[in-house]
Amino acid sequence: MKAPPLIEANDLAVRYPNGELALHHVTFRIDSPSFTAIIGPNGSGKSTLVKTALGLIKPSRGTISVNGYDSVKKAGKIRKMVRYVPQRDRIELAVPMKVKDIVLMGRLLKKLPPRFATSKDITAAKEALREVNMEALWDRPFPELSGGQRQRVLVARALASEGSILVLDEPLTGTDVESQDLIVEALGRYHKENDVSIIMITHDLNPIHTLVQDVILLKNTIVGIGEPCSVMDPELIKKVYGPTAQIVEYSGHKYCMTRDSGLDRHD
Ligand SMILES: Nc1ncnc2c1ncn2[C@@H]1O[C@H](COP(=O)(O)OP(=O)(O)OP(=O)(O)O)[C@@H](O)[C@H]1O
Ligand SMILES: [Mg+2]
Repeated sequence: MKAPPLIEANDLAVRYPNGELALHHVTFRIDSPSFTAIIGPNGSGKSTLVKTALGLIKPSRGTISVNGYDSVKKAGKIRKMVRYVPQRDRIELAVPMKVKDIVLMGRLLKKLPPRFATSKDITAAKEALREVNMEALWDRPFPELSGGQRQRVLVARALASEGSILVLDEPLTGTDVESQDLIVEALGRYHKENDVSIIMITHDLNPIHTLVQDVILLKNTIVGIGEPCSVMDPELIKKVYGPTAQIVEYSGHKYCMTRDSGLDRHD
């Protein structure tokens, strides 16, 4: 039997209570397994799309499903399958949690109480921290880390927890090139070695374009969808990012230069 699509939307619209129409006429299907990137400018509905897929926001019209489960009717089921790294994590920095507590939390939250860390949990947490080169910080208080280090710990938390789909909302924001490379490599390895689909929102496709199979280009509706090369089309990109956006080709890869990525400074 054919696996259900990773994510499927039919005429989806989402309007916030203040009247803001964040998404409209969104219809698409991504087959499983996939490493999917969702791109688009600020306010284009990327986070809204992901939150609606996870059942955190209700559509005002149409449907969306994950692995064949309707996001409204089967939200509990979806949350069990998905590991989610939100754009702004509400980790209380006043609480002196250690790095290990944060990473273990990803595993413990999926268990029923009483929640104790077993040696298997600890091994998985250490392994995930090693993936992003943060193992040495195991005992360090989380609030003392830099923004980029925190981001790496949050990615490790997602890698350590269990679930067949990993959803990350801008995990590269606020990280330097070295951290970006570590996160991207860890995600790429993880996707290849485990049977895990990854959905990643990003402002910059360049660091991940060789790993990604499907790209969704959003501007409150689907502007482009397909493999990276077909979405990296000059006309499409200009339509979304404005007339200064450019595509350049370098050693067989297409790079998108937009004001967002800051790469068009020398124009
Ligand atoms: N809780 C909310 N209440 C009202 N409007 C909202 C809410 N969250 C988002 N919006 C609006 O919906 C639209 C889409 O927002 P969303 O956060 O999905 O965009 P985004 O593509 O993730 O942007 P960014 O790149 O800045 O993260 C925006 O116009 C935003 O102002
Ligand atoms: Mg967002």
